[in-house]
Amino acid sequence: MAGTPTRPHADTPTRRYESLLLFSLRSLCLCGEFPSMYHLTHRPRRLRSTEGYRRLARETRFAVDQLIYPIFVSEKVSGRSEVISMPEVYQLSLSAVADEVKSIADLGIPAVMVFGIPAQKDTVASQAYAGNGIAQKAIYSIKQTRPETIVITDVCLCEYMSHGHCGIVDKQGEHYRILNDETVELLAKTALSHAAAGADIVAPSDMMDGRIGIIRNALDAQGFSNVAIMSYAAKFCSAFYGPFRDAAESAPQFGDRRTYQMDPANPLEALREVALDVEQGADLLIVKPGLPYLDILWRVKERFELPTAVYNVSGEYAMLKAAAKLGWLEEKRSVIEMMTGFRRAGADMIITYWAKALAKWMDDPNFRNSCL
Ligand code: PBG
Repeated sequence: MAGTPTRPHADTPTRRYESLLLFSLRSLCLCGEFPSMYHLTHRPRRLRSTEGYRRLARETRFAVDQLIYPIFVSEKVSGRSEVISMPEVYQLSLSAVADEVKSIADLGIPAVMVFGIPAQKDTVASQAYAGNGIAQKAIYSIKQTRPETIVITDVCLCEYMSHGHCGIVDKQGEHYRILNDETVELLAKTALSHAAAGADIVAPSDMMDGRIGIIRNALDAQGFSNVAIMSYAAKFCSAFYGPFRDAAESAPQFGDRRTYQMDPANPLEALREVALDVEQGADLLIVKPGLPYLDILWRVKERFELPTAVYNVSGEYAMLKAAAKLGWLEEKRSVIEMMTGFRRAGADMIITYWAKALAKWMDDPNFRNSCL
């Protein structure tokens, strides 16, 4: 035991026998009846052997502070209506929003992300930027109820378009194009209307070119320079948005979103997209979806060092909910492991439909921030 500090007077015969006895007892307790067979220099399992060790050695933690809860506010429901493909996720009427926000804030969740579902849709998404649109009324109501809750708004047109695309469509027979600059114009109007209703952060999720800069300019010109932009900077064209489109009633009526959302095979393109949004003034970034894109999340966080969120999307929620319902996966452990994965991959914030459930689990004093 070279280098181990010795206590003064530790070498009297009685002391020596005492410590020998203690040492043997301790070895018996720790190693059971089996003395070590090898003198291994490193035994990494030591730090995994008890919950105390594991707590001290844990490298990744998550907290309720990092959660963002998406809410769907619909002009078409009264009270609450559960989304079939997303158990325990509801479309809310405007009058149900205040109660929901109180319960979210009471759980300690700092932020919500608002999606609006209008009664009327058209080909110019007029309800997306109407001063008295459903999203604008919901934003106002949330800020009245709990001003400290950060309101992030999804800035997109798909929920408001009769055809379900995220932009203005120029359709000639079978052929159609999504018009970029005309769409950006409407996105800027939408973002402004959200800011005017009290939004803290606007989050454009459309994937049109140039929208961050145009929205930044529009906000600044109208005196909303304090409103932040959280860009869905790396948003891929994903099958995992399926259940969301049930919740938001926003599935495209024809074609798909491949000309604006990114090809899942392209990590370098994702980095270029993010770089453009950062240049144009994005304050926060989103990588979306989460689980199949952890490599992108890691690279985005490493390269840009901005506050970065991951969107744990509806399909990721639905598949685990379904497996849990069948008894094939343990929901709580699986969710916590998933969240740990997002944090490990660099997420500062997690947008998740489990935010409320997680906040409740974390409230338990035995909650250990690990999958066990
Ligand atoms: C677009 C938008 C979508 C999601 C968030 N914003 C759907 C889409 O792009 O088709 C998906 C979120 C989820 O799947 O949970 N308004």
